[in-house]
Amino acid sequence: TPEEMPSTDLITLTRHVLAEQFRLGSTATGDLTSLLIAIQVTSKFIANNVRKARLINLIGLAGETNVQGEEQKKLDVLSNDIMVNALRASGKTAVLVSEELDDPVIISDPRLKGRYCVVFDPLDGSSNIDAGVNIGTIFGIYKVRDGSTGTVEDVLRPGREMVAAGYTMYGSSANLVLSTGNGVNGYTLDNALGEFILTHPDIKIPPRGKIYSFNEGNSCFFHPPVINYLNSIKFPANNKPYSARYIGSMVADVHRTLLYGGIFGYPDDKKSKKGKLRLLYEAYPMAFLTEQAGGLATTGRMRVLDVEPTSIHDRSPIFLGSKEDVQDVMKFYEEYD
Ligand code: AHG
Ligand code: MN
Ligand code: MN
Ligand code: MN
Repeated sequence: TPEEMPSTDLITLTRHVLAEQFRLGSTATGDLTSLLIAIQVTSKFIANNVRKARLINLIGLAGETNVQGEEQKKLDVLSNDIMVNALRASGKTAVLVSEELDDPVIISDPRLKGRYCVVFDPLDGSSNIDAGVNIGTIFGIYKVRDGSTGTVEDVLRPGREMVAAGYTMYGSSANLVLSTGNGVNGYTLDNALGEFILTHPDIKIPPRGKIYSFNEGNSCFFHPPVINYLNSIKFPANNKPYSARYIGSMVADVHRTLLYGGIFGYPDDKKSKKGKLRLLYEAYPMAFLTEQAGGLATTGRMRVLDVEPTSIHDRSPIFLGSKEDVQDVMKFYEEYD
């Protein structure tokens, strides 16, 4: 039999988001397309720095502490600066919120001001940088409300109002996963071409998985519904316990969960009263992607995307992944309340 030829019809991220814009017809101005193209460039730039980090002295602490009280790594600061610069220069943004900046950035220059707000975690998984373990970037996009000039109120909105969300994982390859509210697509960076190529079209989470992903080192602080749920999958009646996988980079743990199924959780506990993960730029984008892929994301008691934020660095408990697995954890909360 003749061997198959390599494809000559590459679907790049740019081509794919343009196709989506054309699908929407004259209602789409192309501003979101331009913004997404700007974001993918930041991911290439960050990926390049991540790959060289050990060689160019990008490992270690930057010397400052962020508003959450975390010591910033050099790569946290560099990635933040890369994103702020590129998003401002895109001319498509009005408000930027970053994990690494205490206050929102309001774009005031009328020549650069656009209609979108971007909330982002420039470098997720900081504790894994120095060991060369997978890290990532997370982003969510809101459109400014009708009549607004772009204020913090435009981002203090529930995640269900996001128009797009995504992440890039810097791993054995750089993978950008994106949803504009019409399913989820994954792209892999071809380093030779410098382009993200569509490799994972229409990602759907399996309805049930076999993997759980929690930091069980915090078990002594966990509340009863979480402890009881974890016991149910570790000591099951059918003698088929779940496998444990926990990387400690939300991007990597969620990426695996989207592709393989299962559940990722970072609950609130006796020590972290609202959990650890930040609503705007960690929980919402990942919840948005998970729902778009056919899964669920809950705080235990309510849909993550329906939580109303009160400040830009708010935290929230989160459980996300395969529909049936997340429904199981919700049952333990119902029984307990
Ligand atoms: P960041 O590096 O952006 O501050 O985020 C760290 C987060 C997230 O990536 C991960 O899921 C979680 O922290 C891990 O926390 P623990 O070390 O407490 O398990
Ligand atoms: Mn951090
Ligand atoms: Mn993070
Ligand atoms: Mn971060």
